[in-house]
Amino acid sequence: MSLAAWRRLEAQARSARDTSILSNFHADPDRLSRMSMEAAGLFVDLSKQSWTKDGLAAALDLAREAGVEAARAKLFAGGEVNTSEHRAVLHPALRAPDGAHFSALGVPVSAEVEAGRQKMAALADALHAGKAFGATGKRFTAILHIGIGGSDLGPRLVWEALKPLDSKIDLRFVANVDGAEIAQALVGLDPETTLVVAVSKTFTTLETLANAEAARDWLRATLGEAGAKSHFAAVSAAPDKAVAFGVEPDRVFAFWDWVGGRYSIWSAVGLSCALALGYEVFARFLAGAAALDRHFVEAPLEANAPVLLALAHIYNRNGLDRAARAVVPYAQRLRLLPAFLQQLEMESNGKRVTATGAPVARATATNVFGDAGTNGQHAFFQLLHQGYDIIPVDLIGVARDEEGPDGMHTKLLANLIAQAEALMVGRSEAEVRAELAAKGVSQAEIDSLAPQRTFPGDRPTAMILLPELSPEALGALIALYEHKTFVEGVLWDINSFDQWGVELGKTLAVQILGELTGASLGAHDPSTTALVQRLKV
Ligand code: F6P
Repeated sequence: MSLAAWRRLEAQARSARDTSILSNFHADPDRLSRMSMEAAGLFVDLSKQSWTKDGLAAALDLAREAGVEAARAKLFAGGEVNTSEHRAVLHPALRAPDGAHFSALGVPVSAEVEAGRQKMAALADALHAGKAFGATGKRFTAILHIGIGGSDLGPRLVWEALKPLDSKIDLRFVANVDGAEIAQALVGLDPETTLVVAVSKTFTTLETLANAEAARDWLRATLGEAGAKSHFAAVSAAPDKAVAFGVEPDRVFAFWDWVGGRYSIWSAVGLSCALALGYEVFARFLAGAAALDRHFVEAPLEANAPVLLALAHIYNRNGLDRAARAVVPYAQRLRLLPAFLQQLEMESNGKRVTATGAPVARATATNVFGDAGTNGQHAFFQLLHQGYDIIPVDLIGVARDEEGPDGMHTKLLANLIAQAEALMVGRSEAEVRAELAAKGVSQAEIDSLAPQRTFPGDRPTAMILLPELSPEALGALIALYEHKTFVEGVLWDINSFDQWGVELGKTLAVQILGELTGASLGAHDPSTTALVQRLKV
């Protein structure tokens, strides 16, 4: 895509590169209202970004010229958006209220979606009413969720964010093919009261199948073959493969190939969460995302939160060449958000060719990292404030939170606001010198210390506030990032919904597994051959 609007945005960013963010507030009295908005209950403030008023205008022109509105319409219409796999991309259909009429490549899907939701709700309701029993007549009180990537990160995030302190259900997760994880997850679990939920879109993922087999063996050891079956459920877009694995057909919860793994939390992939939280909570989570979908579809581009968040990130990435971005949720319960966004953004948009196979014209996805605030402040914030590279930060806060001792939430919020201010405003060397002089510090010491204690500022932040950590707000937050990732993909002209880059490592791992366990060595580079020989069992 060679659009004049790209060149205008890049020129804007270059020319305003040295303009301080703070001075932009003085130059443009409407900055705050122009660059902040409400979306499905979320407050999104992009006024502390580096862009000027003209930079924002150029970014909006880019969105228009790149056809964001047409691309959005195609996605919601169930067109072939994932062109390399010839699939629709319809995760919004999963959270639309009953009675919607979505079609994937012309085939109606909403009735099947609703039936799937009813099947989940029926099991969740039975579990909560204490009417879901295992093979020995005991109630299920624990769930072992097995899955990796999109079949793990969303459910883990949702559970961490919403789990009640007095949960009656003990929900645990296993993702890695490192046996240490399942060994730890099983400690204290009773097979007689545990339901295993194996989640895999393809039902071919090595990690998940290995863990599912291990969990099944663990069940069988106590319950026998038939008993183990009644403690095992599966979630997959390849239900026949789950049945072939040995799962009872009525315990298989299906979803569809038009749901990308990293966009699948809204489907039966969220089953464990729906079971442990109760279906009503899960439905509220879906409703929050549906509200954000409506905002995305209806709001004009200049007041559209996912569009503007994408443009802010694009301005940093392409206009200012910022290759990394930190995500810092000031909410311990959202501490898994950075990991979730790593897959969402880096697997979706970590591409070097366009959807038609041509080299991309400019840089694509940023490196995403982060941790919960305030913990991150005591780890990587030094670099954010004074490091060589400028790393934009997404700050996520929760306005009201009554969990925990009185006053702590206000302290957390104070830190959130303070960090955003410090990153933008910084502290000048003159100020630092004056303060040291006032303390009677010697001139030689001031000369050496002042530059070290100076904060350059102009580190851009995006602020996203949830009114409270409700299921609705969490749904809206995740949907906000999903759509912003989609908009970025449109602007970069890439397919955000495939992930060919994960295939090579998987293929090699299968070959090397054979070699480690007895097969003769194939052709490798000398370093790899030496490693295989060293680690052969
Ligand atoms: O990492 C590659 C990937 O295919 C992800 O896209 C996906 O979320 C994950 O593996 C798990 O895949 P599955 O749900 O098919 O087991």
